[in-house]
This record gives sequence, structure tokens and C-alpha cells, in this order.
Amino acid sequence: MPAARRKEGCGCCSCIGLGISALFLWLWIHTSNPKCSIQTLSLPSLSRPSNLTTDPTLSLTLRLVNPNQLKGIRYDPLNVTVYDFPNKSDVIGNILMPGFYQGYRKKASKLGQGTANTTVAFRAVSENGTGYFRVDMATAVKFKTIYGYSKRHRIRVGADVVVNASGVKVDPKGIRLRSMTPKMGNSCVVLGALVNFLVFTSLDFW
Ligand SMILES: *[C@@H]1O[C@H](CO)[C@@H](O)[C@H](O)[C@H]1NC(C)=O
Ligand SMILES: *[C@@H]1O[C@H](CO)[C@@H](O)[C@H](O)[C@H]1NC(C)=O
Ligand SMILES: *[C@@H]1O[C@H](CO)[C@@H](O)[C@H](O)[C@H]1NC(C)=O
Ligand SMILES: *[C@@H]1O[C@H](CO)[C@@H](O)[C@H](O)[C@H]1NC(C)=O
Ligand SMILES: *[C@@H]1O[C@H](CO)[C@@H](O)[C@H](O)[C@H]1NC(C)=O
Ligand SMILES: *[C@@H]1O[C@H](CO)[C@@H](O)[C@H](O)[C@H]1NC(C)=O
Repeated sequence: MPAARRKEGCGCCSCIGLGISALFLWLWIHTSNPKCSIQTLSLPSLSRPSNLTTDPTLSLTLRLVNPNQLKGIRYDPLNVTVYDFPNKSDVIGNILMPGFYQGYRKKASKLGQGTANTTVAFRAVSENGTGYFRVDMATAVKFKTIYGYSKRHRIRVGADVVVNASGVKVDPKGIRLRSMTPKMGNSCVVLGALVNFLVFTSLDFW
């Protein structure tokens, strides 16, 4: 009887060990793309009362979050394009931000500036001064693990942004940029395989 109990206790230890290894394995395999959002966007030339300033500066703040455990992200240059909405027929402005490295679970806010095509911008604004813009961001990332860098993953995300008569983004909260071609199942398959693996090894165990 005592021998049996000792054996059981030992099995439990191994089970916890297996669980911890599985957790690390999952953290190691599981990779999420960075989360991107637009914090600010301003186009002072759209400001109605001060029409004197035809400052064509287009500025926006991009927030980038690396949600991964144990994986850094190396960003290629970030290419942000602001289009009129919903046609996306004309480009209002383009901002190219330099690439950078982001450690795991780190957040970054990047301010970028470009020159707006005020002709297109004015055309996209309605009579009451509200403007609807489409903001797209394209880049590529490599994930860094202890084994080095992964291959490049292309990222194309976008969102609709509303600016008021001052040419300032209305929503004070960040607007999440989302993938235009949702690619799903990838991490689910890995998770499923892992669950199967765990179930079968524990069945084996008992
Ligand atoms: C203000 O902007 C409108 C539209 O672009 C233009 O027609 C008008 O001449 C401008 N007024 C001044 C004072 O610059
Ligand atoms: C940025 O994206 C726009 C729109 O997709 C494209 O026209 C432009 O060539 C890109 N610029 C760079 C430097 O990749
Ligand atoms: C969208 O494009 C169509 C023609 O292609 C045009 O008639 C319409 O005015 C455009 N809308 C906006 C908001 O630019
Ligand atoms: C602004 O965009 C219009 C339409 O796409 C284009 O004809 C014009 O040349 C552009 N202006 C500048 C300064 O790039
Ligand atoms: C301005 O006009 C747009 C449509 O043209 C409308 O959706 C929006 O609610 C209006 N905003 C205000 C503050 O009146
Ligand atoms: C536009 O929004 C900004 C920031 O929320 C605000 O400071 C500004 O007064 C607004 N302008 C108009 C005309 O509503």
C-alpha cells in the first residue's frame, strides 16, 4: 500500500512536469502577429476656420504591441497609406516609418509624418466637415526566438478612421487595424495537436 502511494505521488510529479513542459512548448510554438492600432491622426489643413494655414502635414501615431511570450519581433519599415473612403481610389498621403526591434510583451508608440494631397483630402470631407478615411498599414515581421529569426511574415492591416472639422481623429481611443484577409486555424491546429498529445500521454501514464 505505501509503495503504491509513493508510485502515485511520483506519477503526479511527472504529470505536473509534463504540464509545465507543455506550457513552455506551447509558448514556444504559439506565435501571434503584433497588434496594431491608430492612436492619433491629424490633418491640420482640414481645419475650417484657420483656412490660412494650408499646412499639408499628415501625422499619425501607430501603436504596436508584441503579445508574444519569449518572442521578439523585428519589423521591416512600416508603410502607412491614408486613402479617401470608401473608394480607396485616391491616396491622401503616405508615411514610411523606419523598422525596429521590439522585445516580447513590449509596447511601442510611433509618430510618423508625411505630406497630404490636400486636393484629395478636401474632396473626401463632407459639408459638415466630417471626413472618412481609410488607413492601411503594410509591413513584414520576423520573430526572434533563442534559435534565431523566423522567416518573414507579411502583414497587411487596415481600419476606417473618422476625423472632425478640425482634421483630428474623433475617437480618442485607439482604432485597431485588422487584417483584410483573415487567416485562421493556424494556431488552433497547433493547440488541437497539443491537446491530443497531452491527452494521449496522460492516458498512457495511468
Ligand atoms: C478656404 O478654403 C476654401 C476651400 O479650399 C477656398 O475656396 C477658400 O478660398 C479659402 N479661403 C481662404 C481665405 O484661403
Ligand atoms: C507603400 O504602400 C503603397 C500602397 O500599397 C505603395 O504604393 C507604396 O509603393 C509603398 N511604399 C513602399 C516604400 O513600399
Ligand atoms: C466613389 O467613386 C465613384 C465613381 O467611381 C464616385 O462617383 C464617387 O463620388 C466616389 N465617392 C467618394 C466618396 O469619393
Ligand atoms: C493629388 O491627387 C490628385 C488625384 O489623384 C492628382 O491628380 C494630383 O496630382 C495630386 N497632387 C499632388 C500634389 O500630388
Ligand atoms: C456629417 O455628415 C455625415 C454624412 O455626410 C454624417 O454621417 C455625420 O453624422 C455628420 N456629422 C455631424 C456632426 O453632423
Ligand atoms: C475635433 O476633435 C478634437 C479632439 O477630440 C477637438 O479638440 C476639436 O475641438 C474637435 N473639433 C471640432 C470642430 O469638433
